[in-house]
Amino acid sequence: MCGITGIVGRSRNDIGRILVECSRKLTYRGYDSVGVAAVNNGKVDLRKNVGTVDAVDSELGLSEMIGDRGIAQLRWATYGAPTIINAQPHFGCEEVFYGAHNGNLHNYYEYRKELVETGHIVRSENDGELCVHAVDKYYESTGDMFDAVRFSTRDLKGAFAFAVGRADEPEIYAVKMGSSLVAGIAENDTIVSSDLPSILPLTNNVLYLQDSEMVVLTPDEVKVYRVEDGKQLNRIPEISNVDARAAEKGGYPHFMLKEIHEQPQIVRDVMGLIQKSKPEKWIQMIEDASSRYLVACGSSHNAGIVGTYFFNRLAGVPITPVIGGQFEPMCGNTLTDESLCILVSQSGETKDILNVLNHVRNNNLGKTLGILNVVGSTLMFNADSYIPMACGYEISVPATKTYYSQSVIFAYLATRLGERNGHLDSQEAKQFIHQLENELPILTQKTIDKTGILTKDLARTLMDTPDLYCLGYGLTDGVAREGALKIKEICYNHCEGMYSSEFKHGPLSIVTDGYPVIFITTTEDSWMIINHINEVACRGGRTIIVGEREEKLEPYVANTIDYLEVPSSSPLLNPLLDVIPLQLLSYYLSVDKGINPDLPRNLSKTLTVD
Ligand code: M6R
Repeated sequence: MCGITGIVGRSRNDIGRILVECSRKLTYRGYDSVGVAAVNNGKVDLRKNVGTVDAVDSELGLSEMIGDRGIAQLRWATYGAPTIINAQPHFGCEEVFYGAHNGNLHNYYEYRKELVETGHIVRSENDGELCVHAVDKYYESTGDMFDAVRFSTRDLKGAFAFAVGRADEPEIYAVKMGSSLVAGIAENDTIVSSDLPSILPLTNNVLYLQDSEMVVLTPDEVKVYRVEDGKQLNRIPEISNVDARAAEKGGYPHFMLKEIHEQPQIVRDVMGLIQKSKPEKWIQMIEDASSRYLVACGSSHNAGIVGTYFFNRLAGVPITPVIGGQFEPMCGNTLTDESLCILVSQSGETKDILNVLNHVRNNNLGKTLGILNVVGSTLMFNADSYIPMACGYEISVPATKTYYSQSVIFAYLATRLGERNGHLDSQEAKQFIHQLENELPILTQKTIDKTGILTKDLARTLMDTPDLYCLGYGLTDGVAREGALKIKEICYNHCEGMYSSEFKHGPLSIVTDGYPVIFITTTEDSWMIINHINEVACRGGRTIIVGEREEKLEPYVANTIDYLEVPSSSPLLNPLLDVIPLQLLSYYLSVDKGINPDLPRNLSKTLTVD
């Protein structure tokens, strides 16, 4: 949530243009409001409003702002409605201090009150403004920006990062206190940002910051310090090999469609990478643990549910899937020093997941294995070990290719664990790994080709459907939930994903003539799911099927478009392939409804708040 970018240039006078260009790459973090504070000749020009970067740019001319340094912010609203006054950056009491944050302050109410009572002019209801006032407050007593920024963090509670400057001083300061922050050193500029994509237009020479570190940006260098005692740290920048073009649409109308189409290659990449990375250490971690949890949120949680079934089916090993925010209250007291938490997160920055990571680490409660996509994320640096998803940038807010990669990783790990503990015979294990590596990429492409037109047609018939269900059984349980999440997330139709045998225990009462229910099946489980299809069909419901073509299922679909057929393969590959038509269906439905699927309302891709 929220993205900040701060730049200090040597010979630049077009700070607005470059801040807009860099910020555009962070759009996935928030698009409720946008602002730029640019410093020119010791004066701060602050322009901000609600809307996307492009909308606010064309309205306020952000790109035309001049100066040699500045801070831009894209907001995903939490504290304070998405209004112009709550938009960031903010000024301090006077138009001298300017700054913006990402994250949340837990002591917002108390601290705001304290500031107001001591004479600070706090204009908004946004917690980011308090960061600027905290620096303003300590500058009053120290007269020194470096100390003021450092000391300000003593007052601010929560997980956040902020960038701040003074109109009459050439530096920009930034601190990382729980939210992500990366710095970059270009030929004529230095830059600090919430994430790498906004740095790459300027440089791939980057520094990943750790919590409780602060940076001072001058045109020539980025100096890193420890917040606690102000000690300078010797940190060597590294060259990022992430291709900046990954953040381009590459001819597709939306990132989401591009990312769906990348999935065949993702399978190749992740299978190649994981096998090259000596996966035995991860399999050993899973085998050695006395209790295992798969902790994740949203789509990553849905992939975790698919994973749980794979571990049961292929390795006979129990793993409990738990939603990140639910973990401590539900399972926190059951951890021991032999437990394993597998923390799955595309961003590696989701606060609900980092809370679990910290709980485990601070209390020495066993091991953590991260499964993550963003290299340089907090999860990557702090988990005991991590597996990369190898997806490159996923820009679209709805997860597609990272969910796919996660499911493939679980299928692979479960097979290797099953081979090792004797649940699978070696031949069987080798055959499935061969299928994952060699057949799945081709089948994934075939599924995209085969279901593209069908899902487009089906989407048109669901335009006016206020709500629907997606039901799965066994290995397709997580797939049904994922399909439903995609539909509600980017189409705004209410869609529940649940276990098909559970539907009769209450939700079935919603079915009337023509009520749509999507059933997702493997060829192994269709004998069972047919019972659940019947329960809906005999009450006049419209049954839509996702799975391989099976004669026994055909009587249940009224139109060709209601059978989203995936190519024939092994039942174990079915749950991987079945998600694709659901991704495509949600994509086309979203576009048909005039929604931008990349930027669904109210959402942000990286949720660094509780
Ligand atoms: O970065 P993470 O994998 O931790 O994110 C978890 C969820 O916020 C994320 O999967 C969200 O549900 C997606 N937008 C769903 O498409």
